[in-house]
Amino acid sequence: MLDSLGTLQRTHYCGNLCAADDGKEVVLMGWVHKRRDLGNLIFIDLRDRSGLAQIVFNKEQHAAAHARAEELRSEFVVAITGRVVKRQKANPDLASGEVEIIAGELRILNTAKTPPFVVEDELTANEETRLRYRYLDLRRTKPRQNLALRHRVILEIRKAMDEMGFYEIETPMLTRSTPEGARDYLVPSRVHPGQFYALPQSPQIFKQILMIGGMDRYFQIVKCFRDEDLRADRQPEFTQLDLEMSFPTQDAVFGVIENVMVRACAVAGITVKGPFRRLEYKDAIRRYGSDKPDLRFGMVLHDVTAHFAAARETLHIEGNVQALAAPGAAAFSRKQLDEIAEKAKSLGARGVYWVKVADAGVSSPLEKNLGAETLKQIAAAAEAKPGDLVVAVSAKEQILGTDAAALIAGQLRLLLAEQLKLVPADRWEFLWITGFALFEWSPTDKCVVSAQHPFTGIVEEDVPKLEDASDEVRLSMRSKGYDLVLNGVELGSGSIRIHQQEVQDRVFKALGLSEEQRRNRFGFFLDALTYGTPPHGGIALGLDRVTALLAGEKSIREVIAFPKTAKAQDLMADAPSDVDTDQLEMLGIQLKPIEKK
Ligand code: AMO
Repeated sequence: MLDSLGTLQRTHYCGNLCAADDGKEVVLMGWVHKRRDLGNLIFIDLRDRSGLAQIVFNKEQHAAAHARAEELRSEFVVAITGRVVKRQKANPDLASGEVEIIAGELRILNTAKTPPFVVEDELTANEETRLRYRYLDLRRTKPRQNLALRHRVILEIRKAMDEMGFYEIETPMLTRSTPEGARDYLVPSRVHPGQFYALPQSPQIFKQILMIGGMDRYFQIVKCFRDEDLRADRQPEFTQLDLEMSFPTQDAVFGVIENVMVRACAVAGITVKGPFRRLEYKDAIRRYGSDKPDLRFGMVLHDVTAHFAAARETLHIEGNVQALAAPGAAAFSRKQLDEIAEKAKSLGARGVYWVKVADAGVSSPLEKNLGAETLKQIAAAAEAKPGDLVVAVSAKEQILGTDAAALIAGQLRLLLAEQLKLVPADRWEFLWITGFALFEWSPTDKCVVSAQHPFTGIVEEDVPKLEDASDEVRLSMRSKGYDLVLNGVELGSGSIRIHQQEVQDRVFKALGLSEEQRRNRFGFFLDALTYGTPPHGGIALGLDRVTALLAGEKSIREVIAFPKTAKAQDLMADAPSDVDTDQLEMLGIQLKPIEKK
């Protein structure tokens, strides 16, 4: 038999009770976390959103409540009325550990089936089970704390944006395609059978139109949808802090974000200071082999191509040779070295070379190819010290406009830093990357594509190159884009935009869009640009990534209430799912026979 809540009202949260509450009559409500039956005494740990409190049922003092407590099982929902008393021996692991509650009345408000995994801080279930029963998983401390942190971060961001004069404005979810480099999620229209909306990959075009509309400073905490291959830091629907400003300098955008991030970090108890460091894209690649370098540790790259000159043919070296010195790694075993070589090869390395540096000198399998003197020069060039291992790589293929060896060495840098435990968990290295190229080479499409999106501004002197037929020339064009990086994670991306209609149209043309395609896909935007568009610019931060970093989580799934799996499924609600033929009929859609995987 269940009891009714009636008019009973909660007076306290479990986790907030402390010694100062000694002697108070309290009403608590929550879930049975654990139950221990010692005969005349029954203890339960009661859980609510704030944490746990120990409840004591004493047969001699409160026989009826004690009898009822015998029925309790894990995850039953209860209301308890009782008196707070100081514990003889405090439990330091519990926020409310100095006190316990002597229960006078127990109401069982609901029962619970035996859960498929025990709700406890230690993870006992695999991710699939956790996501299928997400409501149980959410009862654990960490997910609860993560969502609380997310809430407080978002609240602080809203306050900061408001104080800086930004309006939060909603943009449509049912719209048409925005090019952000992924595929669209399409939504069929019933009213217009055979026609589709696209869910926004970002509010990019709308926020620019808000600037044309004179809104001056816009922001939005907004869902974006991208049908792309998922990784730990990607979800098909994710949240951005999106913003746009009229008449901004790059520094003005940076200032806004630095203020926001300093405040968001403070919410998580992390002290950071602006202005953040800045690095040009080409220097980021040259020094770290990455456009999102992790600056929490050193191991910078060194171009040692010249030192390999004598052996280029024998070693079949095509492009550059990039080296780094891994501190203390001269002692790596054969197996460890093989693993690094294996990894490098899987990333496209043609050659992977070692030079071990010791007090007595250097040693390397390359000695017969290059000679001891050159090896010493390589070690010196890589700034290696005795005990270090110099790792050098050459790349198999060159993607037009990139230093493939540097990119591979950059990946090895991360791997080695992890293996050598060089990554301090308590450092927060924010970094702006500037000086991006406007276009990049798409190896799959075999043509030049926008490095970010086609609305990114162009460094003025380079605008005339838009009509140049040579890919090399177009790949050399510089954009007004920038990225925000934190500890090796790309947090956000933005730019000063193109605000002249004529330039925007030329960019679409340079990307190979015909007159008809330009009109068809971007006509409304090209029109809007002709009615007095102010210079404008902005940025979007991935809020899931921001929160995951602040929460110390490796995957953004841990800071999203209902995340999707790596296969883009919602295991709890079982989506995506089949739909009724009636529904399809109404939308004018007929499915081709589909082979179920
Ligand atoms: P961009 O596509 O770089 O830029 O996205 C901005 C930031 O959003 C986050 N992000 C994601 N987070 C989780 N899952 C995903 N699938 C995902 N995709 C992106 C990243 C990224 O840095 N309209 C432009 C911004 C602008 O120019 O103002 C845009 O969306 O943290």
